[in-house]
Amino acid sequence: MNERDSEIMSQTLATHGYVESMDMETADLVILNTCSIRAKAEQKVMSLLGMLRKAKKRHRGMQICVAGCVAQQEGEKLLERMPHVDLIVGTQNIYRIGELLEYARKSPGYVAVDMEDDYAIPRFMPDALPSGLADDRKKIDTPIAFRKFVTIMQGCNNYCSYCVVPYTRGREVSRKVSDIVDEVKVLLDSGIREITLLGQNVNSYGKTNTVTETGLPCSFSDLLHHVAEIPGLARLRFTTSNPKDLSDELMKCFRDIPVLCPQFHLPVQAGSDAVLKRMNRKYSVEQYLQLVETLRSYCPDIALSTDIIVGFPGETDEDFQGTMDLLEKVRYHGSFSFKYSDRPGTRASDFEDKVPEEVKTRRLMQFQARQDEIGLERNREYLGQVKEILVEDVTSESVKGRSDTNHIVHVNEAISVLPGEFIRAEIYHAGQHSLNGKMVK
Ligand code: 5AD
Ligand code: SF4
Repeated sequence: MNERDSEIMSQTLATHGYVESMDMETADLVILNTCSIRAKAEQKVMSLLGMLRKAKKRHRGMQICVAGCVAQQEGEKLLERMPHVDLIVGTQNIYRIGELLEYARKSPGYVAVDMEDDYAIPRFMPDALPSGLADDRKKIDTPIAFRKFVTIMQGCNNYCSYCVVPYTRGREVSRKVSDIVDEVKVLLDSGIREITLLGQNVNSYGKTNTVTETGLPCSFSDLLHHVAEIPGLARLRFTTSNPKDLSDELMKCFRDIPVLCPQFHLPVQAGSDAVLKRMNRKYSVEQYLQLVETLRSYCPDIALSTDIIVGFPGETDEDFQGTMDLLEKVRYHGSFSFKYSDRPGTRASDFEDKVPEEVKTRRLMQFQARQDEIGLERNREYLGQVKEILVEDVTSESVKGRSDTNHIVHVNEAISVLPGEFIRAEIYHAGQHSLNGKMVK
């Protein structure tokens, strides 16, 4: 989500005449697009801002802008600690970045963090780069991407007890189907081959407001079918999904839509019913495992990944063992795992029985060590298989790209192919983080 927001700001600024710089210390404008999902991400912002204070002293004309979730949450408070910040832009105001920078130039310390419940997402963000700038951007935009994100909804209504997102990004609002389809068409026309539909919980797309001109409801699986039919689309993905809203209809899309890649991120967070309940996740371990089984029955090759939080308040050794057991049962292709981090304003931050730091660290290491082993075993299952690779990077002696399962594949051969094209490669080596293949005709 943040990556897409950065892209939106950079596109908008290009239309205002800004050109991307490679050097933060000498840039005329520095935007920190911030994340507050865990304390660590927030600390990083603060130390970067400290560094920028010095850079600004050396380079007087520099404008510093803080955008994203930290900006949204802290607002004016941030200025007390960081008075050298020129502009604070909340999550729903990034589309106005150009105009806001003008205000901030006249009155430094400008704050724009207002939030509306039924926030109207702009129709679409055309790639409106003035021609001269477009060329400049290409030089620094290497490798040129053939994958793009398209936001289909903003915000979240789920209030998982540990999570700041509903507070920093507001209520759930779905974009209109026609706007999404239009944006995808523009991207495909410009040469994009792969689209990832993006939202905090895409499975509840269309549930909270009317999203079609006709007023007819459109579920997320309906939307997938619509987008998949757009000519020129080679690969379709989506993220993120809350298991509580994962319908059978949606799971069947992995069987029925050829361009939908066999790859699925399905965050489970914990393998203990007691913990899941306190997290307010609204599903049980049993239900989750049932979903995994159904998914695999529709799409046997599906590569599954997940998010895990260890050391949630009150998590016992037995609860944590449940998470380890779940890992053995599902055998994820990959996972993102985090120590629970107290976020101000969330319900979990008031829970008792906080787990000591050293216990969280031990659990995280135990989880990650086993996940690494399983991930490697999973990667080895691809040995001998022929995979279709969307090429991202080409040098005189090698090609790098991605498989439909989203694995990075290196082909160490001189191949005459361009980024954005497909090759087929037989996998002969599986590493922890990537695969190696040799080209097949
Ligand atoms: N502490 C630790 N991890 C968190 N996540 C979200 N909030 C927290 C928190 N307070 C993790 C969840 C989520 C991922 C994006 O970040 O696993 O799925
Ligand atoms: Fe946060 Fe839960 Fe919403 Fe995901 S579904 S953004 S974890 S509140």
